[in-house]
Amino acid sequence: MVSPNSLDANQHLRSQKVKELIDYCEKCSQQGEALDVSQVAFKTILNLANPFSDWKVDELKDVIWRITNEVGKINLVDFFPILNEKIDFQGIRVDHDVKLFDYIIPKGSLVLVNVWAIGRDSTFWEEPLIFKPERFQSLELDVRGKDFELIPFGAGRRICPGLPLALRMVQVMLGSMLNSFNGNLEAGIDPKDLDMDENFGFITPKAHPLRVIPSPL
Ligand code: HEM
Repeated sequence: MVSPNSLDANQHLRSQKVKELIDYCEKCSQQGEALDVSQVAFKTILNLANPFSDWKVDELKDVIWRITNEVGKINLVDFFPILNEKIDFQGIRVDHDVKLFDYIIPKGSLVLVNVWAIGRDSTFWEEPLIFKPERFQSLELDVRGKDFELIPFGAGRRICPGLPLALRMVQVMLGSMLNSFNGNLEAGIDPKDLDMDENFGFITPKAHPLRVIPSPL
C-alpha cells in the first residue's frame, strides 16, 4: 500500500478520496455541522486501503491506538523475554559501554531519543513553544529522518513506514480544504482559547478533537 510503485499507480484513487473528503466538507458546510478534522483525515487515508473498507473508522483507530500504546511500553520485554529476540523495540540497545562527553552509557542500556525535547530545544529553535509554522520555510531540513532537528516521522530502522503515503496525502488534504473553505471552531470557541491539551502515550493526540464548521470561501 505504501511502496513507491503502488503509490504511483494509485494516484487516481488518492484524488478520488480527496474529492470525497471535499464533498463531505461541502455537506457539513451546507448543514452548518462541525467535522472532526483528525477523523476525516484518518478516514480519507484509511479508505485508500480496500481491505479495511468495511471497518468503522472509530473502531480501527481505537485498535491501532491500543496496539501502538502496548508496543510503546518499554518494559514489555521484561514480561515476555522471547519478544526481545524477535522484535526490534523502540530505542537503541547499547551493545558495549559508550563514552559520550563526560558520561558513560553502560552496555545493555536502552537509549530512547527524546524527540519532544529536540523540538523544544531553545538553543536551536527560536521561541520553541510558539506555533510558527513559517519557521520551517527558510530551513532546508529533510523530514525523512535525515536531519535530527526535525523528525516528525522518526528516523532509522523504525522510521514511520507510512511516510511516503503521508507526504503525498497530508499537504493535498490540508491544501484542498483550505482552498475550498473557511473554518470556525465549534460552539463559537475563539482560536486563542482552543484547548491544546494532549493525551500522553506512544502517540500524543489532542485530548479534545479539533472540531471545525466549514463555510464557503
Ligand atoms: C503525518 C502523518 C504521520 C506521521 C507524522 C507519522 C509519524 C510516525 C512516527 C513518529 C512513528 C515512530 C517512528 C520511530 O519510532 O522512529 C511512526 C510509526 C509508524 N507509523 Fe506513522 N506517521 C504518519 C502516518 C502514517 C501512516 C499514513 C501510516 C500507515 C499507512 C503509518 C504507519 C506507521 C506504523 C505502522 C508505525 C510503526 C513502525 C514501527 O514501529 O516499526 N504512519 N509514525
